[in-house]
Amino acid sequence: MERPIDLRRDTITLPTEAMKQFAFQAELGDSIYGEDPMQRKLEELGASILGKERAIFLPSGTMGNLVALLTHTRRGEEVILEESAHIFTSETGGVGAIAGLTVKPIRGEDGAPSPAAILQAIRPDNIHYPRTRLICLENTHYRYGGIVPPLEKFRAIRELATEKGLSIHLDGARLFNAAVYLGVEVQVIAQYADTVMVSLSKGLGAPVGSLLAGPRDFIKEAERYRKMLGGGMRQTGWLCACGIMALSPENIARLREDHENARFLAEGLCAIPGIKVDCTRVHTNFVLADLAESGWDARQFVERLKEKGVLATPAGESKVRFVTSKEVNRTQIALALERIHELMRAR
Ligand SMILES: Cc1ncc(COP(=O)(O)O)c(C=O)c1O
Repeated sequence: MERPIDLRRDTITLPTEAMKQFAFQAELGDSIYGEDPMQRKLEELGASILGKERAIFLPSGTMGNLVALLTHTRRGEEVILEESAHIFTSETGGVGAIAGLTVKPIRGEDGAPSPAAILQAIRPDNIHYPRTRLICLENTHYRYGGIVPPLEKFRAIRELATEKGLSIHLDGARLFNAAVYLGVEVQVIAQYADTVMVSLSKGLGAPVGSLLAGPRDFIKEAERYRKMLGGGMRQTGWLCACGIMALSPENIARLREDHENARFLAEGLCAIPGIKVDCTRVHTNFVLADLAESGWDARQFVERLKEKGVLATPAGESKVRFVTSKEVNRTQIALALERIHELMRAR
């Protein structure tokens, strides 16, 4: 059977042949003793790219975020975040269940809460309230369709956090996409956060892994939580070698192709009667298509599309999410558009 055109997520990416070759030649050691040369190299490289003192390798973005929450806070404190932030909506409630935090969710029109709303949300010093300790930001913002919040807003939130003595953690699972979109180095965005998590296993194509970066003392403590959560792995060199290749300048620059393909897809979808896409919000590799006018239910649409060999994800009653990655080329996207058009005509 023909392989489906998989536009569900960029997590489906597979390591390239070059990545595999590099990985198999990696020298291995026990990383918990600090003896895996590739892990050490990846962590140093990650810290320098992100403009932070130190970085650690973890098996997933979820663990990276959770370790950050645990390290920044004490149980019973409060974290401010955008109401549809991945940490709040899609990480199995670890923020409450494991980190023991309360959450103050705030709506943010462009993927980040406004500084004014954050100011309102900071708890006064009162025995009845939890202490506000941390602000979490997300870039690109997953549920807003991979959009990149304005850098100016990040700068203003940083100023406010510093004034109020709060820390900022950035969930940068797709921070490299944001940097490519803005045409800046990734550390230009990361500078506004104390700590940042980035994924290597999404558009960058490594099979497994994320980095958490921040100040030296913070990361020393974070290493303990990584171990506590079972993220202390042993001979990680094969995975880390893939991570090193994922962070090569050429591989980061390649994300631009995914963004161009997303735009091509968005424009093609707009030309299909019954589908609406806000192209001003197609910043990176996500496209959110609105089927409300056509009367299609998003779940049913996605099921029928699957029968036609195209995979996508329902994102609400009438919205469908498409995500481009290196696994889907321009020709396949054109084919996907044809099949979507057929399905819309059949209704
Ligand atoms: C914005 C965001 N943060 C964190 C994560 C968690 O990463 P992982 O799947 O590696 O746990 C994801 C995963 O899709 C994500 O989209």
